[in-house]
Amino acid sequence: MTTPTALPDADTTARLVELAASLAREAGALVRDGRPDQVDVAATKSSPIDVVTERDLASEALLRSLLARHRPDDGILGEEDEPVAGTSGLTWVLDPIDGTVNYLYGIPAYAVSVAVVAGPPVPERWTAVAGAVHSVSDGRTYTAGRGLGAACDGRALRANPPRPLAESLVGTGFAYTAQRRGEQATILAELMPHIRDVRRIGSAALDLCSVAAGNLDLYYERGLKPWDLAAGALVAAEAGAVVGGLHGAPAGETMTVAGPRGSVERLVAFLEEHRATDCA
Ligand code: IPD
Ligand code: CA
Ligand code: CA
Repeated sequence: MTTPTALPDADTTARLVELAASLAREAGALVRDGRPDQVDVAATKSSPIDVVTERDLASEALLRSLLARHRPDDGILGEEDEPVAGTSGLTWVLDPIDGTVNYLYGIPAYAVSVAVVAGPPVPERWTAVAGAVHSVSDGRTYTAGRGLGAACDGRALRANPPRPLAESLVGTGFAYTAQRRGEQATILAELMPHIRDVRRIGSAALDLCSVAAGNLDLYYERGLKPWDLAAGALVAAEAGAVVGGLHGAPAGETMTVAGPRGSVERLVAFLEEHRATDCA
């Protein structure tokens, strides 16, 4: 049996929130100032539409170099480079640009997501300690610390009160692989008649922060990677939203659902009924 990692106290957590926010802003400045008029694809990953730009790589390299200076004992799990094992029990989980397709097309919904988690760096098993999502285009920074609440530029965030599914604005996203996104679209088509409307913002981190800020009532997505949800899920949870999976599972790659208690259950029930975790 492994010994559980001790969680940082409130003062340390608050300092980690500040650090996460300053790292996300610094990387955000690099992303914003370095955006050429025409952004090129540097590489592709899981499919031809899963793209990486030179700024994804530069942003992650900057975050890693700042962490090496400020938190040399912590581990790192980032989207664009190899994991680094730490000795402190804390791991930084980095998405150097969440919303790369938006970045590529000049659509302003992209963010830098920085979180620090305790325990194994796996969403179903970690305890998120602190996180920041910096929305590069409008300069907003969403932050949260475990037990300390969530804020946007210092203003406390609160998710919407529960409302019927039929009056709920729902965010979601699609995988990069053709088969899975086809199946996801089928489930969404069945959900559409039961909700107010749907938004596909293109950044899971900003989707989760939108639930925290009340700009979305509900959000769900299958296939999120640890870096997509680490900071945003903490922001949503600290703003009072319930964040989890289906069939009582924690949020993770299999499924992430977020929203106010009293309405999130209806979306969970719909997704369970439509076997949303059985798709490719
Ligand atoms: C993607 C975005 C998108 C979500 C995908 C993610 P990336 O992250 O968060 O909204 O639907 O599942 O992979 O590739 O832009 O970092
Ligand atoms: Ca991402
Ligand atoms: Ca990314």
